[in-house]
Amino acid sequence: MSSDVGATADIVANDHGTIERALAVHRLLNAQRPEPTAPLPTLRHIPLPDVEPPRDRLVATLARRRSHYDFSPRPVALTTVSALLRFSVGVQRFVPAYGVEEYPLGMAPSAGGLDILRAYVLVQRVEGLHPGVYRYEAISHELVELSDDDPAAALRGVYLQEEFGASAVTIALTARLDVAFDRYPLRHYRTLHVDSGVAVQNLSLVGTALGLASCAVAGFDDAALSTLLGLPHQEIPTMLLATGHPT
Ligand SMILES: Cc1cc2nc3c(=O)[nH]c(=O)nc-3n(C[C@H](O)[C@H](O)[C@H](O)COP(=O)(O)O)c2cc1C
Repeated sequence: MSSDVGATADIVANDHGTIERALAVHRLLNAQRPEPTAPLPTLRHIPLPDVEPPRDRLVATLARRRSHYDFSPRPVALTTVSALLRFSVGVQRFVPAYGVEEYPLGMAPSAGGLDILRAYVLVQRVEGLHPGVYRYEAISHELVELSDDDPAAALRGVYLQEEFGASAVTIALTARLDVAFDRYPLRHYRTLHVDSGVAVQNLSLVGTALGLASCAVAGFDDAALSTLLGLPHQEIPTMLLATGHPT
């Protein structure tokens, strides 16, 4: 392990009870006790195209970023989706940590550098991609197709505000409690939401730099989203980004 990465992370070893206690907090806050979800199959791996980083200046991007509630029906190019994922939640570098020589650190920093978050891509309108549910694999920079059912109808039950259902793409961030509580105590339930906030801000800023309209969305139905993504019970959804071309 490197001298800094994960140094504080060794403080607490997880017992399985921590995951269950975190889930109890999570369910209490959501007033939901979701049914177990059916896992989705791996249909195929789709390598994402190599892309140049957007050339926008940071402060100009910050000044231009705002939340959008209307989205154009125009589909988003696959290269744009690739750039959005690569430069906001892709891998930035590898370091020796957590017992491996090449542990991935993301473009979005996380507590202890832990690889807790996952990004899913719910495609309604992307050129060259079938509408469906995909998981982003950051290390290989590819999408794993999990469902080729159009998510439009399911998204209407996920978003609490119907305007976001018109977005071309939804990025869903989730957190893996098993990875989190293998290293950290229950209090880290809070930190993983901070990690998600950092990641969604990256998505929002990179999206702005790419000319996309987007909105960070906390207003969603946890159980409906978990079902749509086929999440195992120890993985919880934390944030959505609705995005597409501006009107
Ligand atoms: C963590 C977070 C969650 C948000 N969730 C929602 C949401 O569920 N629905 C919504 O309409 N806007 C949501 N927003 C957008 C905010 O309302 C918006 O950022 C705020 O009003 C400031 O406007 P601006 O983004 O245009 O600067 C969210 C923003 C953040 C940062």
